[in-house]
Amino acid sequence: MATNDNKFQAIIAHAKEYGFVFQSSEIYDGLSAVYDYGPWGSELKKNIRDYWWKSMTQLHENIVGVDAAIFMHPTTWKASGHVDNFSDPMIDNKDSKKRYRVDHLIEAHADTLPKEEGEALLDAMTQLEAAGDFAGLKKLIDDNKIKCIVSGTSNWTDIRQFNLMFKTEFGAVASTSEEDNIVYLRPETAQGIFVNFLNVQKTARMKIPFGIAQTGKAFRNEIVARQFIFRMREFEQMEMQFFVRPGTEGEWYQYWKEDRLKWHLSLGIPQDKFRYHDHVKLAHYAKEACDIEFEFPIGFKEVEGIHSRSDYDLSQHQLYSKKKLQYYDNDIDPATGKPFGNYVPYVIETSIGLDRMFLLILSNAYEEETLTKEDGSTDSRTVLRIPPKIAPVKLAVLPLVKKDGLPEIARNIMNDCRDEFYCFYEEKDAIGKRYRRMDAIGTPFCITVDHQTKEDGTVTIRYRDTMKQERLPADKVKELVKDRIR
Ligand code: GAP
Repeated sequence: MATNDNKFQAIIAHAKEYGFVFQSSEIYDGLSAVYDYGPWGSELKKNIRDYWWKSMTQLHENIVGVDAAIFMHPTTWKASGHVDNFSDPMIDNKDSKKRYRVDHLIEAHADTLPKEEGEALLDAMTQLEAAGDFAGLKKLIDDNKIKCIVSGTSNWTDIRQFNLMFKTEFGAVASTSEEDNIVYLRPETAQGIFVNFLNVQKTARMKIPFGIAQTGKAFRNEIVARQFIFRMREFEQMEMQFFVRPGTEGEWYQYWKEDRLKWHLSLGIPQDKFRYHDHVKLAHYAKEACDIEFEFPIGFKEVEGIHSRSDYDLSQHQLYSKKKLQYYDNDIDPATGKPFGNYVPYVIETSIGLDRMFLLILSNAYEEETLTKEDGSTDSRTVLRIPPKIAPVKLAVLPLVKKDGLPEIARNIMNDCRDEFYCFYEEKDAIGKRYRRMDAIGTPFCITVDHQTKEDGTVTIRYRDTMKQERLPADKVKELVKDRIR
């Protein structure tokens, strides 16, 4: 197997060649850190989203969904703290004019040092960051003689904060104050849930503890956007805010931490590919937080966050909107023998990036396999071992030849199945070539219709992962596939 960096580059190339992910506006040389999903990519992305949505809403009686707008009242972002706090410390190299996120610059340098020295540098950085000590961080960069990779010099500006929210103008009417027209593209979907907390609780008659789930686009003007779809400027999140009685947040935080890892494992991804990373440095709203990290070819990296957000968001929206965002809890408090009464609920959040989950699936699925034939010679194939339940195409229907009535039989089988799951029909090229193309997009099952089908109504089914083939009656295909993608 190639080195991991090579594997990552191979995945990116494969994703483009087989219609999963394209650079956005590619004919104009692309737009940095923005990507489009092609035919199989959009199907896979939809399947991951649906799998998450079903696990959250359909399979939890006490979680319902919303679909809030991307544009929100600008005060939302003042209340949430994003206007003041959603920023990264940045530094520019005066010679190359290249801008760096301070933590990325120091982390990259730490990677080049012997282990203990690197760790000491990162510890020093974490302490200075936590204290908001920009002068100290600048001194750390100077003392370590950290250089710009472009100019090779250590000629740095001072460190400044750079807000990550995109702004745009709202409406066509000229305003006396420019600020009146400014709206932000949401940097997280969570706030659309918080501002709808009472609407949802009342209309769906939810009782605490309960959750609200949402999927949708989020936008961040990431300073250093690289590593393909790992860090994008436009991306999609799948978030769930779980509202609980104050005092119970610790146990619910543990519950969701474990539950979310189980969800990842339910896709058949090996446990040793995951680890938790408990946060020491917390986001401005968090009381306790951890990441679920996955071992991508570029190393262990965050794919999902679980955050105990206290009553921060609802209290802030209550303060800024001057509307009560409270819940009346008529359960009896055993300590007082009276109802718990009115309170602002606490929140446990689970937040996963859909694009990052997509990259996780591709990274785990991608394999370049060497095959030894019966005569001892070797061949190779690239296969995507995508879990069948989320594979873009579930079944390929392939007539062996383009004549003798085989295409008609194949199309009849496909027409019988396509209402239940995504099927793909192909009659061009040798059957081996067609199998390889299906391996490359992760199709778990192929059936071949041949002359024997005309005689006894059986077809050959070929399994992607083992490449084993067996015959079965054509009218059993639909049930077999349905059973395996459940
Ligand atoms: N509401 C909480 C929140 O947004 P976050 O840790 O900033 O928390 C949650 O983001 C998840 O969203 C991350 O774990 C990651 O999967 C995804 N994500 C964040 N920024 C991203 C980016 N620039 N590109 C792709 N995915 C991103």
